[in-house]
Amino acid sequence: MNILAIESSCDETSAAVLSNGKIYSNVVATQLIHTQYGGVVPELASRAHQQHILPVVDKALNDAKVTKKDLHAIAFTKGPGLLGALLVGTSFAKSMALGLGLPLIEVNHMQAHVLAHFIQEPKPEFPFLCLTVSGGHTQIVKVNSPLDMEIIGQTRDDAVGEAFDKTAKLLDLPYPGGPLIDQYAKTGNPLAYGFPLPEMPGLDFSFSGIKTSFMYFLQKQVRANPNFIQENIEDICASIQYTLVNILLKKLKKAAKETGIKEIAIAGGVSANSGLRTSLLELGEKLHWKVYIPDFEYCTDNAAMIAMAAHYKFLENDFCDQTVSPMARMEF
Ligand code: KG4
Ligand code: ZN
Repeated sequence: MNILAIESSCDETSAAVLSNGKIYSNVVATQLIHTQYGGVVPELASRAHQQHILPVVDKALNDAKVTKKDLHAIAFTKGPGLLGALLVGTSFAKSMALGLGLPLIEVNHMQAHVLAHFIQEPKPEFPFLCLTVSGGHTQIVKVNSPLDMEIIGQTRDDAVGEAFDKTAKLLDLPYPGGPLIDQYAKTGNPLAYGFPLPEMPGLDFSFSGIKTSFMYFLQKQVRANPNFIQENIEDICASIQYTLVNILLKKLKKAAKETGIKEIAIAGGVSANSGLRTSLLELGEKLHWKVYIPDFEYCTDNAAMIAMAAHYKFLENDFCDQTVSPMARMEF
């Protein structure tokens, strides 16, 4: 059983081929055009997807040594994401399925981030908790089975990836700033500057207040010393990252305690953060959790995770028809 999967929800055009539950190719074209604008420009993202999608799909088929005739289904990201960007992948998948007479499988991008854990060994056991952290989302998900997931906590305002990127912008770092904060943080002191953690009830998160604290702190320091940022970039990044990671882990710890679940996973672009990965492993050891962290390639947006989600939907005969359209906002 061969599935071709397409991901186009934001600024990565990606295609992957899965055969009998195993990934045989995963091609990702990252759109570099947005760097000069300090963030993703939706219209430019749609145009770049149009340029990349054919070569990316071709390469995914070639790498997997599969031809169009060998395919059994076409999967695509239905949402959440940028509407224009999603439309490119959705239209491409629909046309290809129609032309080849194949069934179509719609995939929820956030559910796919969680299912990235089933690409490689070791796989988490059900039920497990997944902290899904990306540029647009921050969620704690209770995963009961591959397609049965419940969001038990989520951000009430900004996503943690956005907090990383917007703070990086204040530091004059190019988009996406998250990986650069991570780089500088490696040689900085995480306790150099302290910030108050937000008080949010239950398992929900909030990042808008802390983003403002970072901004006021930087403005105040720069007024006193115009070279403050350049002179202290490592310590600033380490302290910001330490604060953001602490907010995430505090809630994850609470979720594990409340549910009694000790199988703990992280997913999404921010799960590539080395501070989060290390702190989670340390916390896991202390609390006797089994911790699952995906390889870098499967943390940020990729079609392999879309293919994995499609695999489980294929097994359930969960197909959609040609009337399907993308959804910018989509819950599961
Ligand atoms: O999952 P993803 O690729 O796209 C969305 O679905 O949003 O996540 C992108 C986010 C961006 O905010 C980016 O800055 C962040 O993931 N990110 C990181 C790191 N690598 C990617 N944030 C912190 N540290 C990293 N190493
Ligand atoms: Zn994503």
